[in-house]
Amino acid sequence: MVSSYLFLIMKLLDGKALSQTIFEELKSKLLQTVSKGNKVPHLVAILVGNDGASETYVASKVKSCQQIGVKSTMLRYPAECCEEMLLEKIQELNENKDIDGILVQLPLPKQINPEKVKEAILPEKDVDGFHPVNIGKMVKNLPCFLPATPYGILLLLEKYNIETSGKHCVVVGRSDIVGMPMSILLGRKNYPGNCTVTLCHSATVGLDDYIRSADILIAALGKPQFVKGEMIKEGAVVIDVGITRLPSVQTKSGFKLFGDVNFEEVAPKCSFITPVPGGVGPMTIAALLINTVKAAEYLK
Ligand code: GUN
Repeated sequence: MVSSYLFLIMKLLDGKALSQTIFEELKSKLLQTVSKGNKVPHLVAILVGNDGASETYVASKVKSCQQIGVKSTMLRYPAECCEEMLLEKIQELNENKDIDGILVQLPLPKQINPEKVKEAILPEKDVDGFHPVNIGKMVKNLPCFLPATPYGILLLLEKYNIETSGKHCVVVGRSDIVGMPMSILLGRKNYPGNCTVTLCHSATVGLDDYIRSADILIAALGKPQFVKGEMIKEGAVVIDVGITRLPSVQTKSGFKLFGDVNFEEVAPKCSFITPVPGGVGPMTIAALLINTVKAAEYLK
């Protein structure tokens, strides 16, 4: 008798490749519209202080703008910068017709209230999708700017034709930037979406059991390697939003990036998984650029 084995073939969700495809599409779209005499979209990125990770993210956003033909301006303020000064600058950028998109990199120093900053940006220029008007529209499933990280994750799920309707999606982490909007988006009656969503957080009792029940797991808790192989249901889709830089003897630089998921243990049990780096990170930038081109009204 010939014995048969069922192999689960795990597929990588390649955010790097998909982001490059999106960049190419946006670039050719912009070439066309700009050659017809339309203005070049202009993004202003504001960085307050010298947080290392924020510096890297903003530099990467600016570089990607250059790659697709979006004009970008980076404004830097010292860590001691006061809230009033920042709000005044945002007001000036809101009124400047040349500027299509504004983003203020988070987190901000403690003397600045991030909610005031998010509310100060005109919703039409809020390419981060953090303004309460955009959040409200997102909840109501109305056209709006979607926050970049969850939007990038939706694009990945869509690209790989991942079935989401009726699935149990467990989101771990309730941040305003990732977990909260992700839980709303996957619960909407859309594709990707229409999931039964559980939003887990620091007060959740029995977190491991929730994770074990996930058909789709979004790990966005910011604890490197937290999710272990034994916590994963066979065939689950695992999206790793974590990105923590830790000292390592394995690399020349002496540092290595770690996700919230223990990839070696988890990958063999999954149907799909995002790598770190090269999964969610590049998709966040692709989603931001889609929003920026849309803010210039070139994507309808
Ligand atoms: N900090 C971490 N992620 C983000 C993001 O998507 N936008 C902004 N503005 N700050 C962040």
